[in-house]
Amino acid sequence: MARFSWGMIGGGEGSQIGPVHRISSALDARFELKAGALDVDPVKGRDFAIRLGVAPDRAYGDWKEMLAGEKSRQDRIDLVTVATPNSTHYQITKAFLEAGIHVLCEKPMTVTVDEAEDIAATAKRTGAICAVNYGYTGYALVRHMRAMTARGDLGKVRLIVVEFSHGFHADASDADNPRMRWRYDPAQAGISGQFADCGIHALHMASFVSGQNARELSADFVSTISSRKLEDDAMVNVRMDGGTTVRLWTSSVAVGSFHGFNIRVFGEKGGLRWAQQWPDQLYWTPLNGRTEKIERGMGGLSADAERATRIATGHSEGMLVAFANIYADLAEVIEARKNKSAANPLALHFPTAVDGLRSIAAIKASVESAKAGGAWTDARPPSLRS
Ligand code: NAI
Repeated sequence: MARFSWGMIGGGEGSQIGPVHRISSALDARFELKAGALDVDPVKGRDFAIRLGVAPDRAYGDWKEMLAGEKSRQDRIDLVTVATPNSTHYQITKAFLEAGIHVLCEKPMTVTVDEAEDIAATAKRTGAICAVNYGYTGYALVRHMRAMTARGDLGKVRLIVVEFSHGFHADASDADNPRMRWRYDPAQAGISGQFADCGIHALHMASFVSGQNARELSADFVSTISSRKLEDDAMVNVRMDGGTTVRLWTSSVAVGSFHGFNIRVFGEKGGLRWAQQWPDQLYWTPLNGRTEKIERGMGGLSADAERATRIATGHSEGMLVAFANIYADLAEVIEARKNKSAANPLALHFPTAVDGLRSIAAIKASVESAKAGGAWTDARPPSLRS
């Protein structure tokens, strides 16, 4: 198995998601951190990169310097992860794709639909991979849910109920804290707060598991803390292009919900239930039958689930392995491209720029719908309406 050179932009010391990427990318020893522009502060970024083992000449002060430095190297990075704040994703991702460097971009991929259309088109034109980190789709049992629906175990999927609720922004007395305030300020966060932050994970999960995409939606947004200009709670009904209805709730004021990312999938032949906080168990109830608890790692699961599993049943895997599965997919696809061979079809499930684009279009549609009192609104990006 080949090893690849990896770079990172953002994800500096003390950031939330940076360490998760560093641990997950290293899990299968397919990627090695060789370059980075890790912090908005060039001095801190260089210093941290060197402490992480990056050679001083590849510890860059900012992403433009990194692009210029890497582009001209024989041993340039194969993949860059973009883990900066949202408003910078577009410019950075576009520039690296144009240089032919594969990108894993954090969600949301861009702030506007036009930018997202441009990224999807750029990835197509350049042939560089643009993945988007809906990392929760890397869980073994999420992949098993997808395999079960795809092979028809549930029959037609009638309904999906999905929620991503937490209570970390519920303290009204803390609402003016600068670390929290920007998330609800349109100048810094864009047109949506909670739906753009967490709701799109839930919508993407519903798409991933059902193999369908959002066609139209009706949204109700509320700012439960009145000083907030953007929503901190949203209820969204979605009609999918394959006929499934999705009921989606997302909230940042749900005290006690912690990382309440849960999904229920109801088909004509049975139902599935999974929760991110207990990711190693999946509950399956066949129509008129008894509920079965499916444990990750036990025999007889789908090839997708087996491939995504690292350690024995009974030991928790968690988010780090879920993200590692996205990196494992990318490593396989990059290797296949280098060898000019076909990639393992099981490695092709990672979310792409097209998924990123669909999410940004859904954010825009949900904002418009909420403003229009919940009017049903086309959720598809302009380039994918046919
Ligand atoms: P954070 O604020 O904790 O960290 C951001 C890091 O980026 C900091 O180290 C900062 O110095 C650096 N940075 C800012 N501007 C930069 C620039 N121009 N160049 C280089 N570095 C720069 O933010 P957090 O929570 O880590 O989020 C980063 C991104 O990851 C966001 O887009 C967020 O939506 C996404 N995210 C995704 C998650 C997932 O489950 N997929 C979970 C958490 C965050």
